[in-house]
Amino acid sequence: MTVTPITVQVHSSGRSSRVVLVEDVRRGLSKRPKELPPRWFYDERGSQLFEEITRLPEYYLTRAETEILARCARDIACRMQPEAIVELGAGSSTKTRMLIDAARQSGMLSRFVPFDVSPEIVERSARELVAEFPGLGVHAVIGDFAGDLQQIPRLGRQLVVFLGSTIGNFDDQERAAFLAAVRSLLAPGDGFLLGVDLVKDPAELIAAYDDAAGVTAGFNRNMLAVINRELSADFDLGAFEHVALYDPELHRIEMHLRSTRDQWVTIPGVGMRVLFQQGELMRTEISAKFTRPMVEAFLHDAGMGLAAWYTDPEERFALVSAVPA
Ligand SMILES: C[S@@+](CC[C@H](N)C(=O)[O-])C[C@H]1O[C@@H](n2cnc3c(N)ncnc32)[C@H](O)[C@@H]1O
Repeated sequence: MTVTPITVQVHSSGRSSRVVLVEDVRRGLSKRPKELPPRWFYDERGSQLFEEITRLPEYYLTRAETEILARCARDIACRMQPEAIVELGAGSSTKTRMLIDAARQSGMLSRFVPFDVSPEIVERSARELVAEFPGLGVHAVIGDFAGDLQQIPRLGRQLVVFLGSTIGNFDDQERAAFLAAVRSLLAPGDGFLLGVDLVKDPAELIAAYDDAAGVTAGFNRNMLAVINRELSADFDLGAFEHVALYDPELHRIEMHLRSTRDQWVTIPGVGMRVLFQQGELMRTEISAKFTRPMVEAFLHDAGMGLAAWYTDPEERFALVSAVPA
């Protein structure tokens, strides 16, 4: 009998994910304006929709990041010689395969540690990875960025990667807390590889978050389907429109759901009945865009220094290699 080299460790800061959902919904829908945190996009269906988004013609982010990785994965792997790659917000780990491949060829990589809130997609990619890279052990950790990063085991000299511009989903405070937690995972000799989307023409940004085929709209509304299923709510998905706006001062895309009519929504799982007025916006995600000085500043504040800055030829996206200061 062969033993599958996959282990899965589940955390949620000592609280079940339902308890966290109840708190997030209660808090977010009591705010003015209303908002919900983006982690609730990613049930199994939401993770599939995100995969579809990455293949859309308007969504340049994944293509640009893939292009950069294809050029620099070997360079990064040779410089860092990681024994373990830890991927935060791993999702399907599609792009990360280039890094795993390069690190296996150039060194001693034996472990891959995907960390994500969504177990289904991580378990599927773990099965694919052990088949694709014989001898690679996959230790998946299921948890939330806010509170569970310290549960990630140290399995040797490590490269911590955070791709897909997910860093843009944090506000300033959340980003600082997240980077401090990442810094605490790093020992001398370890590295951090970060994918950031760069400030650019707002029209290009808005198209990337409001595609013609409506996949992003479906992804956005999926959060309401999650709340309906988990908390027995009665959101009418057809009565909320997807809206993507760009805020030039905060240089960020904001995704909202706009109520198309006055409507009451009942959410028995949190004991709430909530009024949405016609035209009212509820924010579901921010996606901040950065410049190199901004990235250098937030890394510095977190006790890290920039080691290399890689971009695609059109400078739409950057992969940032950082080390503990
Ligand atoms: C924008 S996707 C990026 C996926 C992949 N890294 C890529 O580059 O295509 C964000 C990923 O982070 C995960 N995620 C979102 N919120 C999270 C949270 N609060 N804690 C842990 N993972 C989270 C999602 O499940 C999803 O896989």
